[in-house]
Amino acid sequence: MSRSFVYIEELSRHVGESVTLKGWLFQKRSSGKIKFLVLRDGTGYLQCVAFVKNVSAELFEACDRVALESSIKIRGTVKADERAPGGYELSLEQLEVIHEAGDYPIQPKEHGIDFLFDNRHLYMRSRTPQAVLRVRNEVVKACRDFFYDRGYVLVDSPILTPAACEGTSTLFQTDYFGKPAYLTQSGQLYLEPACMAFGKVFCLGPTFRAEKSKTRRHLTEFWMIEPEVAFMELPELLELAETFIAYIVGRAVERCAEQLKILERDTGKLEDIQAPFPRLTYDQAADILMEPDSQARMKDSGAPQFRRGNDFGGMDETLLTERFDRPVMVTHWPAGIKAFYMQPDGDDPSKAACVDVLAPEGYGEIIGGSQRIHDHDLLLSRIREHDLPVEAFQWYLDIRKYGTVPHSGFGMGIERCVAWICGIPHVRESIPYPRQIHRIYP
Ligand code: 4AD
Ligand code: MG
Repeated sequence: MSRSFVYIEELSRHVGESVTLKGWLFQKRSSGKIKFLVLRDGTGYLQCVAFVKNVSAELFEACDRVALESSIKIRGTVKADERAPGGYELSLEQLEVIHEAGDYPIQPKEHGIDFLFDNRHLYMRSRTPQAVLRVRNEVVKACRDFFYDRGYVLVDSPILTPAACEGTSTLFQTDYFGKPAYLTQSGQLYLEPACMAFGKVFCLGPTFRAEKSKTRRHLTEFWMIEPEVAFMELPELLELAETFIAYIVGRAVERCAEQLKILERDTGKLEDIQAPFPRLTYDQAADILMEPDSQARMKDSGAPQFRRGNDFGGMDETLLTERFDRPVMVTHWPAGIKAFYMQPDGDDPSKAACVDVLAPEGYGEIIGGSQRIHDHDLLLSRIREHDLPVEAFQWYLDIRKYGTVPHSGFGMGIERCVAWICGIPHVRESIPYPRQIHRIYP
């Protein structure tokens, strides 16, 4: 290795030494005889101190002149200091400006959210976005580790597809050499054949929904982690989902303590996220939502009144989850309001063998999953009932012709999960470059 500088995260190995660092000027302040520069290099923040009597007049003045977010190379001696953010401080000996920044548009003062996201390419340098995106990094790593550690095989699903997975109303259509094609809404349909080949599989990739809704939970491009397992039925799928979520949250608490602190997240609430999670059938959940108290609160908040048979709105999810300190698993939904591929429940075929996992603290649905129809003729009739083009689904039906077995899977939206773990109000913060109905820049 021939690196000529050290990273802030390596400073514990260099206490007492004079070292070179490279990065950007994050903050500066001065109080007469002393200048403080905060360097940021992506691995951390480091306060650098210049005392008028210890440094040349030239260096002392240079500290004043250098503009925020300029790229700089510095040299100085590392001191351990418990009071310093990060635990170390640098006595500045040299400062070289690599590139002098122009007037940096993002100032410590309050900016409107539109301004910040118009400048997302710069805004991601700020402390809060960095903390969130580092949590996202850990969540994605944890998702992969969870499935790899359990012998699942990664099978990437295509982005360009000939047909819908989650309803035709949110499809992005594109032109594929003169034929219509669609951006994928979910990798599921392609994972089902793969689980018949490999047993246990997963995919993690971008998915697309032309969501007209402008809510804090919806993006038009988001990332989904999806497992699919042959011979798995609903009860086992529920266990997989709760073990998975508890693991992801545990990893974030364990490895992102610094970031969660910056975000002022109450980590006690996250530590409570242990399996098993409470289970409610749709009918039990509907009973709660039909209680006079619940109905009154919907009315007060101006949210649509829930009626039995409806899908849940944001307010309904909040009312259900506030009774519990961990995610709630709602199963056995009316088949008519769920996807075409869901296996009917054995006891009551009007219900689907499916689950929505609702996160606590008002974060809503983070997982949707189900057992899949494995009978060929039943699936064919569902495809027809949903007015889907049978030709485009021949390959999907094929799986039901050659050694079909019960199988199940789910999808978890990475951004909703990260928003919940970070305790931030809107999913747009939890993806590097959000895509929403009114945003495709930068
Ligand atoms: O419930 P959904 O639509 O389920 C599926 O797509 C299944 N095919 C998954 C499967 O069984 N393999 O979406 C799954 C999850 C939701 O629970 C939510 O976390 C997230 O994807 N999600 C969104 N996240 C952000 N913006 C949107 N517009 C989202 N739509 C769904
Ligand atoms: Mg869903």
